[in-house]
Amino acid sequence: MSAAARSLTRAEEETRIVEPLDLRRVCGLFTTGVTVITTGPDGDADGTTVNSFTSVSLEPPLVLFCLHQQSRLHTLLERSGGFTVNFLSGRQQPLARHFAGRRATADAFEGVPHHFTADGLPVLSEALAHLTCTTVDVHTAGDHDIVIGEVVELGVPEHGLEPLIFFDGSLGPLETGADRFQHTRQAS
Ligand SMILES: Cc1cc2nc3c(=O)[nH]c(=O)nc-3n(C[C@H](O)[C@H](O)[C@H](O)COP(=O)(O)O)c2cc1C
Repeated sequence: MSAAARSLTRAEEETRIVEPLDLRRVCGLFTTGVTVITTGPDGDADGTTVNSFTSVSLEPPLVLFCLHQQSRLHTLLERSGGFTVNFLSGRQQPLARHFAGRRATADAFEGVPHHFTADGLPVLSEALAHLTCTTVDVHTAGDHDIVIGEVVELGVPEHGLEPLIFFDGSLGPLETGADRFQHTRQAS
């Protein structure tokens, strides 16, 4: 078992120098986009808000996200064998909160525009972009699982949307001038 995967002993707990809340606060200074991971069949689909997404490999096309061990999504993920990573746009802050919280209705997608891929995985239709994946590996790491997926379908329904950003505990749209994107594209 790796050092990261085992629990701390009592002695280690007492001498621990990195407190979880401090780690969360400092990691929160690393700016990220915001995704909703959706999975499950029609009628039983669900999703959760995640900012731990990263791309891993182009050939084969692999991505990952980290999911808390207690997440309600684990059972559905196992049953479906796959998931969709939906990148949220700047105007989808309410969706980020909706999928991060306990919901009043049983159907997580009630009132949320969505559709299903040919493989039956849910996609948020108005997201900035989406990647639909087959789960190829799950590694336990501390109190999270690292879920690795192979991308089998992708889409950018509407070009030019700005992303939703998570920084220092706050959600908000990325405010950019068109000039900045223009400059970046030319430089690469
Ligand atoms: C901006 C943001 C980013 C989040 N990122 C993650 C993440 O990367 N992994 C994770 O397990 N939970 C993450 N969460 C918390 C989940 O969305 C959710 O609230 C929590 O896991 C408990 O509910 P669940 O059963 O839906 O997972 C994030 C929440 C917010 C608001």
